[in-house]
Amino acid sequence: MTVELKHPMKAQSTPDEVARGRFVSGMRSLILNDLAADMKSAYERRAAPAFRKEHGRDPESSREAHQALRGDPAFNIYSAMRVQAQKMVWASVADSVEREAERLAAEAAKVADAPGGLELDPALDVPRNVHAIDVHLMPGSYTRGADSLEAGAVYDRGLAVFSMGLMGANLDDIGLSMSQYIRQRFPDFAPQRILDLGCTIGHNTLPWKQAYPAAEVIAIDAAPGPLAYGSARAKMQGQEVQFRQMCADDLAFEDGSFDVVWSSMFLHELSKKQRAKVFEEAFRVLKPGGLMLHMELPPNEQMGAFDGFYLDWDSYYNNEPYYKGYRDEVPRELCARAGFGEADYFDFVVPSIGIYGEAAVADAAHGDRAEAVGQQTTGRLAEGVMWYGFGAFKR
Ligand SMILES: C[S@@+](CC[C@H](N)C(=O)[O-])C[C@H]1O[C@@H](n2cnc3c(N)ncnc32)[C@H](O)[C@@H]1O
Repeated sequence: MTVELKHPMKAQSTPDEVARGRFVSGMRSLILNDLAADMKSAYERRAAPAFRKEHGRDPESSREAHQALRGDPAFNIYSAMRVQAQKMVWASVADSVEREAERLAAEAAKVADAPGGLELDPALDVPRNVHAIDVHLMPGSYTRGADSLEAGAVYDRGLAVFSMGLMGANLDDIGLSMSQYIRQRFPDFAPQRILDLGCTIGHNTLPWKQAYPAAEVIAIDAAPGPLAYGSARAKMQGQEVQFRQMCADDLAFEDGSFDVVWSSMFLHELSKKQRAKVFEEAFRVLKPGGLMLHMELPPNEQMGAFDGFYLDWDSYYNNEPYYKGYRDEVPRELCARAGFGEADYFDFVVPSIGIYGEAAVADAAHGDRAEAVGQQTTGRLAEGVMWYGFGAFKR
């Protein structure tokens, strides 16, 4: 259930707050496992047959599955409870973050001189997708508290409640699973310089430093507060990472200066125009032989109508305006448009290292257990989660 974060850079909770977090995680687990299963069965038993009766065919897309389900009691209860639980995630951690603000700032100051770095850019025009709406119903979005530690502390503790233990003790399961997969699949690849785009608090950046300790790792984000928090969080764990405030669609790095450009759960929060620019920038800053790699939600083209809609739900009800637009795009085409060769593209599904273990990640990387997109496991925060990734080497 809710993980207790294992690093010192976190807001401490009272026993009541811990109980509240556990309750919200438990409620989310019930919604995302049991109520989701009820909704699927309502779709098969009621919604899809009614759609078929009216249209003479099955729903063929995520949009049509949504149309078929709207108004169904199972859909209504699932959606209403999920929205309320989402609000409760952030509410459950707000008091402790507020109470702990001064202590966290003092703790961060103690490690200010540790290896690693933080470079904020007060002149940066922070893009609207980062601050203008409460992304995934998170009050104040990523710029809550400006460049204070507040947004980072809320995100860190909130994500622990949100993810119900599925993202690991330091919320790094995605980064650990993906970096281990790449190490196993490409054993001769030895990156010297790694860039993480849209890192937030760097929870999925740190695993890259662990996988490639000799590499210089730089993490960027447009929002200042999460970077300030992430930098202190990394230093307290003895991880040397540079955190810099910058837009991923306008990188202040030279051409051909990185071996890996990585992102996780980032592309779906960008407009279509920003996303295309991010791919162009990734291609530009990669060295020849370098790897662009994104962990994301699996695309609609690889999913059936119901399961595609199940993921697109966030676009309609969770303040994720770009989610569906992203999932309707085709990763292979995004890469090709930015200049990557068709033959250099690959996508894959990696089992969560925390759930399935290192051997399962190695098996997937060696092709012994190549996974197709699992309709109910890939990218879905529920029992048995697996992660979808894609990317390309630059020739
Ligand atoms: C969902 S979070 C990503 C979380 C993290 N990478 C992970 O692995 O869970 C999206 C992040 O992207 C950042 N962001 C959005 N647009 C951006 C842009 N144009 N340039 C840089 N960062 C951006 C937001 O500030 C936010 O921190």
